[in-house]
Amino acid sequence: MTSSQTAVDVKSLYSEIWQNRQEYIMFRIAKQVADLTPELNAKGCPPLKLSIGAPTLPAPQAIKDVLIASLSEKDNDTYSTTRGELSFRKACAARMKQRFGVELDAEKETCALIGSKEGLGNVFRGLITPYLADADKEIILVPDPGYASYVDAIEGAGGKAVSIRLNPENKYLPNLNDVWQDEIISKGIDPKKVKAVVVNYPSNPIGAVAPLSYLQHTVDFARQHGILAISDNAYADMYFSPDARPHSILEAEGAMECAIEFHSLSKPYSLTGWRLGFAVGNQDAVDLVALVKSTMDSGIFKGMQKAGTFAITSPEIQTYIEEVAHVYAHSQDVTLKGLKRLGWPVEEMNPPKATFYLWVPIPKRYSSCEQFSQDLLKTSGIVVVPGTAFGPNGEGFIRLSLVLPEEQLNEVFDRMERDGFTYTV
Ligand SMILES: Cc1ncc(COP(=O)(O)O)c(C=O)c1O
Repeated sequence: MTSSQTAVDVKSLYSEIWQNRQEYIMFRIAKQVADLTPELNAKGCPPLKLSIGAPTLPAPQAIKDVLIASLSEKDNDTYSTTRGELSFRKACAARMKQRFGVELDAEKETCALIGSKEGLGNVFRGLITPYLADADKEIILVPDPGYASYVDAIEGAGGKAVSIRLNPENKYLPNLNDVWQDEIISKGIDPKKVKAVVVNYPSNPIGAVAPLSYLQHTVDFARQHGILAISDNAYADMYFSPDARPHSILEAEGAMECAIEFHSLSKPYSLTGWRLGFAVGNQDAVDLVALVKSTMDSGIFKGMQKAGTFAITSPEIQTYIEEVAHVYAHSQDVTLKGLKRLGWPVEEMNPPKATFYLWVPIPKRYSSCEQFSQDLLKTSGIVVVPGTAFGPNGEGFIRLSLVLPEEQLNEVFDRMERDGFTYTV
C-alpha cells in the first residue's frame, strides 16, 4: 500500500440494515459453545447439546443410495430450474394429496426450496418494501415465541415483525382478530402496512398443534384483511399420536386464494444439512417466491431433488418417519421423568404431542432465562436456548431440543442434580 492509499473501512459500507445486525441466534450459541468446549472438556463436562433443532439420528440409507446412483446419470450436472424439476414438484403435489388430501397443480402451485428457511426469507423479501423510514415500515405478524428466523429475515428485508403472543391462556392459539385490534388498530398503525400473518403449527419452540378450525380462522382473517397467510409446516410429520396429526392450511376453505405453506425435509427425514424443502399454495404467492429466488440462486442439484422425490413418495421412508416420531416421544418421556426428579411441575407443563421440543419454565429463583441458560452451560456443560431467543414473550422459559440419545439425556439430569439445578430450590 502506498502512502496515498488508506485501508477501506468495509464495515462502513454495509447497508444500514446490516450495520448492526447479529448472526442467527443458533449460530451464536454454537460459537460460544465451541469457545467454551476446551474448558468444559477439561473439567469433565463435555457439552450436551439440547440447543439446535437438528436430528442426530442417521438419515435413511435408501435416500442416500438414490443420490449416489444419480451421480453417474447423464444430465445431472447442469443447472436445474429455479422452481425445481417438475418430477420433484409432482412428488410434492402427490405428497400433499396423500398426506392432507390437498389437490395441487404441480407446475403452478409448487416450488422447490433450499430448505424452508430460504423460502420464508424470500417470501418476506418479496412482500416488504425495503427502503421505508422506520415509522412507515411494512409489517408481518409473527408468533411470539416463534422460530427466530422470522424476525431476523423480516428485519433483514427492511420490514417490521409484530408479535402474535402465544400463551397458555390462549392455548397457544390466539384469536387473530384480537391481535389485529390490540397490535394494529389500538396502536394507530395503518392497517395497509400489514402484508402477511405467519402461523407455525406444530410450533417451534412450544410444540403446539392447531386444529383445522384454527387454520380456517387464519384463512378467514387473511381474506378479511387482504393479507397473505403464511403457514410454516416444517414439523407436519413429527407427531406422536393420531389425534395430534397436523393439518395443512391448504385444507381450509378459501386457502388457495390467500395462503402459502412451507414444508421441509430437514426434521422428519433427518436431512437438515441437505437443504431441501418446498412451497405450495396460492399461485401468485408461489410465483413471488420463485421470482425472488430466480435473482438469488440457480436451483437445487438435480440429484438431490431425485433423492427428495424418493423420500417424500416412498412407503419405506414413510415408515422411517413414523419410527423416528416414536423415538422423539420416548425422548420426551425420559426428559419429563428427569425434570420431575428435579422438582419441575411436569403435570402443568402440558407436554406437546408433536416436534422434538420441550418448553420448560425456569426455576423460581431465576428472573432471566438468559442467566439460567448461561449458568447451565458454564457450570454443567448443558446447552439450551433461552426463551427470549424466540421473542420477548419467551421470557421465563428455555427450549430443549430432545435430539440426544437416551443415555446423554439421562446425563443431563444427573449433571443438573449434581450441580443443584432444581426447580424449587
Ligand atoms: C419452525 C421452523 N421453520 C422452518 C425451519 C427451517 O427449516 P429448514 O430450512 O431446514 O427447512 C425451522 C428450523 O429449525 C423451524 O424450526
